[in-house]
Amino acid sequence: MSSYIIAVANQKGGVGKTTTAINLSQALALNGYKTLVVDLDPQGNATQGLGIGLESVGKTIGDLILDREIPLESAIYEGPGLSLIPATPALSRVERAMVGITNSEMRLARRLEPLRSQYSVILLDTPPTFGPLMNSAMNAADFLIVPVDCGVFAMMGIKELLAEVEEIQRATNPQLKILGYLLTLADQTRIAAETAEGLVASFGEGVFDTQIRRNVRLKEAPAFGHSIFHHSVKSSGAEDYLALAGEVMDRLQSIGQPCGESVSALNH
Ligand SMILES: Nc1ncnc2c1ncn2[C@@H]1O[C@H](COP(=O)(O)OP(=O)(O)O)[C@@H](O)[C@H]1O
Ligand SMILES: [Mg+2]
Repeated sequence: MSSYIIAVANQKGGVGKTTTAINLSQALALNGYKTLVVDLDPQGNATQGLGIGLESVGKTIGDLILDREIPLESAIYEGPGLSLIPATPALSRVERAMVGITNSEMRLARRLEPLRSQYSVILLDTPPTFGPLMNSAMNAADFLIVPVDCGVFAMMGIKELLAEVEEIQRATNPQLKILGYLLTLADQTRIAAETAEGLVASFGEGVFDTQIRRNVRLKEAPAFGHSIFHHSVKSSGAEDYLALAGEVMDRLQSIGQPCGESVSALNH
């Protein structure tokens, strides 16, 4: 092992998982870390948001999970400074098929293992549901980043997510850790302030100092197939995701080194 696999996970939809997967990975890439994004959501939003049209996609993460003979390289697409293993809607069929295959939820972890030597960071974008794909992500990951949107129901569901994490830790991936909770869609409203306070009250230093502010540029960027850094480098979105990338690398350096190798040694 010589790199970090991080899943961006929260079974609630619309909390900024995909936005974080796309823009955090691009920020890491801009900082010189060799980064791979794996799209594990059948909606393929990360794939499209990184500029790969679903109709032009050949091999996908679904193929790699279903058929162990398919070479990894055939599903890796080179984007601007980072690489992507895409997903298409066919991934929902794969997820249904996984239910009948013994240990299918360990296949992703095995598939990604050889890629650790090629990438400093592998970021997984996950679907908004518990199920075989989400379990696969939690089995493959060293760390989770949990985005929490500033909304009335923001904290609901985190308990369920943590129960799932515990189950995975107990059964198949004892190494899994939460890297941090990330406040997203932050604005000047009272509910946003209350969510931020509630999050810190529950998780203390587990909460990233960086908050991702609500920013219309972040919302527009995927329509152009660009990260925020290509779409609007001077936006608050770009500033926030760069700050997050710095914090993520700091935490990785201080919390855990799955490989015993220093992060700076991976920075090239
Ligand atoms: N900081 C932000 N500011 C403005 N819009 C955002 C922000 N983060 C996410 N969005 C928008 O909110 C919606 C849901 O975000 P998304 O990243 O797709 O969430 P998820 O992957 O958790 O479902 C998308 O339309 C996205 O463009
Ligand atoms: Mg998403």
